[in-house]
Amino acid sequence: MTSRVSVHLRSRRILLGITAGIAAYKVAGLARLLVSAGAEVQVVMTPSAGEFIGAMTLQAITGRPVREAIFDAQHEAAMGHIELARWAELVLVAPASADFLARLCAGMADTLLHTLCLATDAPIAVAPAMNVRMWANPASRANMKVLGERGVMIWGPASGEQACGEQGPGRMLEPEALLEKVRQVFASGRFAGRRVVLTAGPTREPVDAVRFVGNRSSGKMGYAIGEALLREGADVTLVSGPVALPVPAGARVVSVETALEMHRATLAEVADADLFVACAAVADYRPVSTASQKIKKDADTLTLELVRNPDILRDVAAMPERPFCVGFAAETERLEAYAEAKRRAKGVDMIAANQVGRQQGFEADENALLVLWEGGRTRLPQQAKTRLAEQLISLIAERMDAQTTTQDT
Ligand code: PMT
Repeated sequence: MTSRVSVHLRSRRILLGITAGIAAYKVAGLARLLVSAGAEVQVVMTPSAGEFIGAMTLQAITGRPVREAIFDAQHEAAMGHIELARWAELVLVAPASADFLARLCAGMADTLLHTLCLATDAPIAVAPAMNVRMWANPASRANMKVLGERGVMIWGPASGEQACGEQGPGRMLEPEALLEKVRQVFASGRFAGRRVVLTAGPTREPVDAVRFVGNRSSGKMGYAIGEALLREGADVTLVSGPVALPVPAGARVVSVETALEMHRATLAEVADADLFVACAAVADYRPVSTASQKIKKDADTLTLELVRNPDILRDVAAMPERPFCVGFAAETERLEAYAEAKRRAKGVDMIAANQVGRQQGFEADENALLVLWEGGRTRLPQQAKTRLAEQLISLIAERMDAQTTTQDT
């Protein structure tokens, strides 16, 4: 099993505020690091920050137009300032000048950045950068105390030689150090720093231009697992068959239709994953050939020749550097015996078995699971799939931790 320590920032929405200060030139590097770590970065500059760094540079790095004006008809029509405040999962102001911090402390709303800081529910972090005497000034000390008490995270400043030639605290933390702090903000939850690939929903195996062989999976179970993992800090890639569910916020979704597409997409995604959960109801067989036009109903009978699809779960579990693998078993009879046989045959670490039928398992809002692993089993009683998903991922975390401990000793 691969082990990772760094926290992924994929799809994390970071509002990067830049205020006027010589350290602003370093923020291009910070923006690049955040984008490389997978974050979506929206830069908002105070009016005079533009004296120190060009908006074009930041726009090129982040792929988003830089926001500056508080009254901006063009942007207010698209993502208005309140929407932008809601969009952010973290507001990071770097460099944060003495003036910016004083205004933030006073609750002023005379720039777009200050307005956003007042309007957002997201955590706010500031990376102060100013002259050593300005930092030591009682006014700055008092402002920092108030901001700290309000929950604003104060990152830095570092000590050292300053642009003005003086020595002492006042330098903005380096971009790498700020990146690490950002990672720490998102490093909460039992799956923080873990990358998870999850299959969900049905597959559709085309018969002709309009018909397919499919199944009743709605994706509810898989999506609930994805959401529970996201809440616990995981970096989730959801390889999903066709479903009518909203994308879980923060997940990366790869949409597929057929088993072959799901197989290809999963193997492309899973290489550096820590956990693979196969919740999709993958068609075991597909038509040998697909008619390009709609088949005419001339004959009284129609025989479909089917060929076996590759087994995604088995192939992932057979990888030399494989993630922790959790499969599902959908059974209509002999639940435990068949599920245990599947666990062994597919070589997976854990299997979650559910009794399925017309109104059971598939499509329903509730489910029950019998979870099996080497030397252990537990029953998760009938309840909402959302609750069940939370209990299942808690079991998975325990087993993953137990496996890591065994490997380390
Ligand atoms: O989507 P819902 O409506 O919420 O319903 C949830 C569910 C019933 C679909 C779900 O709980 C479930 O049981 N998913 C697995 C369904 C299934 O295909 O089970 P299986 O016993 O046929 O397959 C065993 C395991 O191998 C599964 O993890 C499956 O994803 C995997 N598999 C199967 C075939 C294949 N070609 N590739 C696979 O990866």
